[in-house]
Amino acid sequence: MCAAPLIPSPEAYFGRLLPARDPLLQHLEQEAQREKIPIVGPVVGELLYLLATLGQARQVLELGTATGYSALFLARACKPLGGRVLTVEGDPHMAARAQANFQTADLAAAIELRQGDALGVIQRLSGPYDLVFMDIDKSVYQSALPDCRRLLRPGGLLVADNTAFRDADGFNRAVTADPGWRALHLYAFLPGHSPEKDALALALRL
Ligand SMILES: C[S@@+](CC[C@H](N)C(=O)[O-])C[C@H]1O[C@@H](n2cnc3c(N)ncnc32)[C@H](O)[C@@H]1O
Repeated sequence: MCAAPLIPSPEAYFGRLLPARDPLLQHLEQEAQREKIPIVGPVVGELLYLLATLGQARQVLELGTATGYSALFLARACKPLGGRVLTVEGDPHMAARAQANFQTADLAAAIELRQGDALGVIQRLSGPYDLVFMDIDKSVYQSALPDCRRLLRPGGLLVADNTAFRDADGFNRAVTADPGWRALHLYAFLPGHSPEKDALALALRL
């Protein structure tokens, strides 16, 4: 039996088949490339949009805003349902840039930005949230996991970025072993993502 032929040079091929983005998102992608700001890029951005839309998410929590690129996808998904995004950023300069981008996108009313350490902020939050997107320092993912579970409604979704980073190992093992989650790890080529070969964890809160 011979294997079905694959598309030659799949990375170049799929790198050309990107979701459409508006000028603001394209500007943020170029800026991120220039300044080495680690954003999720168009494929993971669109994945977040689709997951939030399919889950009819109204209350979304994001940990790690940077310039607000991923928050724009999440807000555009939940705004039609009257939903909102709470996004948390530790760096005050990044937070100010993100806030300006939310205003440019006319999404400032749908996104609340809280500046501070995400672990401290989530300890003081109460849910329920429909979706949590975690994109902070990978070494604290595991410590954030219990609060993510407390804040998500049963059936809510946790998406964690950059889980192929060595620092995410403890989190990856914990979310897989914990019977409170139904999780998968998606290792993939992700054009425009930082880095382009990386993994995401998707975990349903049981
Ligand atoms: C990977 S970037 C976020 C990218 C953003 N989600 C996007 O794709 O557009 C991570 C951001 O999280 C922030 N950060 C890292 N650890 C944090 C923490 N413990 N609390 C709050 N913010 C944190 C960093 O300052 C940085 O701006």
